[in-house]
Amino acid sequence: MAGIIPRNFIDDLLTRVDVVEVINARVPLKKKGREYTACCPFHTEKTPSFTVSSIKQFYHCFGCGVHGTAINFLMDYEHMDFVEAIETLARSQGLDVPREQGGKSPKAYKKDANLYDLLEDVAGYYQQQLTRSSVAQQYLSGRELSHDVISRFKIGYIQDGWDNVLKHFTQKYTVQQLLDSGLLIEKDNGGQYDRFRDRIMFPIRDKRGRVIGFGGRVLGDGTPKYLNSPETSVFHKGTELYGFYEARHNTRKLEQILVVEGYMDVIALAQFDISYAVATLGTATTKDHIVQIFRAVHEVIFCFDGDRAGREAAWRALQNALPVLRDGKEIRFLFLPMGEDPDTQVRKIGKDAFEQSLIQDAVSLTDYMLTHLSEQYNLSNREGKARFLEEVGKLVKDMPDTLIKDQLMADVAKLTSVDIGLIKQRKIGVIQTEPQQSFSRLSDREVRHTPVRFAITLLLTKPDLVAEVEDPEEIALFDLPGCNFLATIIETIEENPHVNAAGLLDRWRNTEYEASLVSLMKWQPESQDDEMLTKEFQDCLRQIRKKAHELKLENLLHKERTEGLDDIEKRDLIALLGNR
Ligand code: GTP
Ligand code: MN
Repeated sequence: MAGIIPRNFIDDLLTRVDVVEVINARVPLKKKGREYTACCPFHTEKTPSFTVSSIKQFYHCFGCGVHGTAINFLMDYEHMDFVEAIETLARSQGLDVPREQGGKSPKAYKKDANLYDLLEDVAGYYQQQLTRSSVAQQYLSGRELSHDVISRFKIGYIQDGWDNVLKHFTQKYTVQQLLDSGLLIEKDNGGQYDRFRDRIMFPIRDKRGRVIGFGGRVLGDGTPKYLNSPETSVFHKGTELYGFYEARHNTRKLEQILVVEGYMDVIALAQFDISYAVATLGTATTKDHIVQIFRAVHEVIFCFDGDRAGREAAWRALQNALPVLRDGKEIRFLFLPMGEDPDTQVRKIGKDAFEQSLIQDAVSLTDYMLTHLSEQYNLSNREGKARFLEEVGKLVKDMPDTLIKDQLMADVAKLTSVDIGLIKQRKIGVIQTEPQQSFSRLSDREVRHTPVRFAITLLLTKPDLVAEVEDPEEIALFDLPGCNFLATIIETIEENPHVNAAGLLDRWRNTEYEASLVSLMKWQPESQDDEMLTKEFQDCLRQIRKKAHELKLENLLHKERTEGLDDIEKRDLIALLGNR
C-alpha cells in the first residue's frame, strides 16, 4: 500500500498553489476589495456570496456555508478524494507527491507511539511496586478500596526516592523519552529526577485505553495532595477525563455520565457499582469535555460538593456547557450535602440511595441557572429585574437556538413578569445571524472577541507573528478557554515555519476544532499592515497574560482563605501580588 503523504509536503503545496487561481479556472471570480467573489457554485443564488481570500488561501460561502482550502475545493467541485486533489495540485506545480513508508506515521506519531509504550510500562511498574509496599497497601485498605477496583483502575504506588523510574527505565528508554513523558524533571544544572515520589499512582487513560499520564496522591498530609503529569504531546488536561475509558468499558449500557471532582470519587463510585463516573483532572470542566461526553451519552450530571468551591466550579461548568447544549441532550447538577464528596457519600448511603438522589435531587441546568441568578438579583423591583435580564442575556447569547432556549426564555418572562414579546423585541439573548456580505463585516457578530480568539485570527493572517511569543509553554498552562489550542497553533507554526492558514486548517480537518478555526478564518483584521498586526498581536498576548494572572490570583486568594496554600502556591501568590 502507498505510504502516507507527509504533512510538510501538504503545507508546502498549500503555500505554492493559489486558491484564487484554482477556483478562477473553474468558476470565474471578481475582485472585490481584498477578496474575490462569485455566485456560489454549490448552491443556486442570484447575488454572489461565495468569497475567496487570497491571504488565507481559503474560500467561504456566506449563503450555504461551504468553506475550505484549495484541496477542499477540488474535492467538492471536482468530486475528487483527498489524495486525488493533492495529486492534481502537485501536478499543476510540477511536483511529485512523496510518500512516507511504514503505514501511519510521520515522525511525531512514532514518537507518541513510544511514549504510550513507555507510560504503559511505567504503569505496570507502579502496580508491581504496590504489591511490595505494605504501607501503601495499608493506605488503600484504610480508604476501603477493594482489590477488584484497585486492579480495574490499575492503581499503583511509587516508593520514595529521586531516581526509581530513572534507574529502572533508562535501559529500555532514553532520558529524553522519559522527560517527554513527564515522568522526569530536568534540573537547572543538568541531570534529572523522578517527578513522582512516595505516592499512590493513578494511571490516566485516553478513550482508547492507552495510559497517557498519571495522578499521584500523597499517603499522608503532605502537599500537594495530588500531583498530576504535566501536559505532554499525549496528555491534554483540557480534553481528557479520568475514568472515561473505564466507564465505557465497564458499563453494560452507558446512558449517562456523572462528572465528579476527584480520582477517589470515581473509584469509590465504581466500587459501589456506579461505573459511569468520570473526573476532570484538577481543572474546570471545559467545552471539549462536554462535547466528548455528549458523543457517548445524552445525559450528563455534574456532581459537586456543597461548599463554596463546589458552587463556583458548578457555575463555571454551566457557563462552558451553554454553548454545547442541544435539544435531546440533558445536563443536570447535583449538589452534595456540606462536607461530603461522592466518595464519602456513597460509602455512607450506598448505591441505591445515591442513585436515587441523582434522580430526585439533581436539578436541570436551566433550573439551576434561574435559581442561582434569582438569588443574586432582587426580582421585586424593576432595577433588579433589568439586571437579572441583562445577566440572563449574556449567558444565553452563547446558546444555540433550541427548544430548551425557548422554554428558558419563557420561564424568564414568567419569573420577572416581563412580557415575552418585550424580551424578544429587546433581543435579549438572541444570536445575531443575518447573512453577511464581506469577511470583515462579519467580525463583530460572529466572532466573540476574546484576546485568545483574536490572537489565533492574527496568527492565521500572518503566521510569522509567532516570533513575538516568548514562552508558548506558559500560554499552554493558562487556565483561560482556548489557551491550550492557541499554544498548539503556536507550536505547530514554530515547527513548520512555512505553513499558511490553509495548511493549518487542513491539519484540523474533521476534528472538533475545525468549526472554530473556520469561524476565525472568516474574520479579518482591519489592517493588513505588518506593523499594526504585530502591535495588535503583542497587545493580545499582554491581555491574555494579564487575564490569566488575574484568574490565577483570584483562585489562589480564594484557596488561601478556604484550604490554605502549599509552599509553591505561596510563592506564586507573592510573585503575582508583586507584579500587579
Ligand atoms: P481524597 O482526599 O483523596 O479523597 O481526594 P478528593 O478526591 O476528595 O480530593 P479533593 O476534593 O481534595 O480534590 C479533588 C480533585 O482535585 C483531585 O482528585 C485532584 O484532581 C484535584 N486536586 C486536589 N488537590 C490537588 C493538588 O494539590 N494539586 C493538584 N494539581 N490537584 C489537586
Ligand atoms: Mn475525598
